[in-house]
Amino acid sequence: TSSGLGRVVTCVAPVNIAVVKYWGKTNEDLIIPLNDSISLTLSTEHLRARTTIKTIPQSNDITFELNGVTEKLTKRLSRAIQLCREEAVRQNTATQEVVSAGLTIISDNNFPTAAGLASSAAGFACLVCALQHLYGIQGDVSAIVRQGSGSACRSVFGGFVRWAKGHREDGNDSIARQLFPASHWPELRVLIVVVSDHKKETSSTKGMQTTVETSDLLKFRTEVVVPKRCEDMERAIEKRDFPSFAELTMRDSNQFHATCLDTYPPIFYLNSTSQEILMLCHDYNQKKGAATVAYSFDAGANAFLFTLNKSVPEICGLLQARFGVTDFKGDPVSDFCLHEEHGS
Ligand code: PMV
Repeated sequence: TSSGLGRVVTCVAPVNIAVVKYWGKTNEDLIIPLNDSISLTLSTEHLRARTTIKTIPQSNDITFELNGVTEKLTKRLSRAIQLCREEAVRQNTATQEVVSAGLTIISDNNFPTAAGLASSAAGFACLVCALQHLYGIQGDVSAIVRQGSGSACRSVFGGFVRWAKGHREDGNDSIARQLFPASHWPELRVLIVVVSDHKKETSSTKGMQTTVETSDLLKFRTEVVVPKRCEDMERAIEKRDFPSFAELTMRDSNQFHATCLDTYPPIFYLNSTSQEILMLCHDYNQKKGAATVAYSFDAGANAFLFTLNKSVPEICGLLQARFGVTDFKGDPVSDFCLHEEHGS
């Protein structure tokens, strides 16, 4: 309804995969990162979050269901809702009556949750998008999304995205922006190799905290390596230079996992299958005489392989020959970002 009460909004949001990774915060509460990061937003076909929000006018209860199970409202979830409500009141797009009405939030992911497949990125981007539509909020919501889950702010945009660490203490300039639309490099493909769908043992929040506290390598990475790497990565994408893009992507994934090993006690996200996939890529590239496929691993054992469209059949064949039946899915980089499916 036009009053905003008794509304139902459904949004779908894609995951994003970082090729220059974020690991470590300068401010835990506001989620301000130690370094800039660059990612690719995938299509919503294979890995997506979906959230439906209903307003409950006669109540002020908020209930949250994820993948069919009722969950407690986490601090971050409550904060995202609170920030959206404040923004709606500030912009005068929703009345106090609308923003104080109860909410029923129903979310699901069409892929394993919390297994290092960027589920929280898609999840928080989706939740804030649904609230944005519900309350009629205008403009960039990436700073709100960031405070739910850091990497999620990159899922607000399609194509190639850079999240700036910013310089302000309040984090208001720590926002994401699109570098290039997906149409800039249509031949690029991302293969998602599901090695393990188990929930990771060390959450990214906890892992980052311990790395920041104990790793010397992380300081070198964030202060010396990443600033230059972000510039090199932007240039490689701009020129559609796959070999450079591939090398930078693999080096960045490796260095992120090296900082995990440099954490004390160490954190291991890769398993022996991940390592096999990693070496398979290097062997293949060596045979080809140029980087033809690149791997990247987040806080989990699952592999994201980047390649050009023409190489997909050969790489899938290689994975099948080596691992038998593997669950891999191919995605283009996508311009499709958040959208409202329906509202009534
Ligand atoms: O935003 P979080 O807390 O899910 O952390 C994400 C960290 C990595 O996925 C490992 C790297 C990244 O930049 O996405």
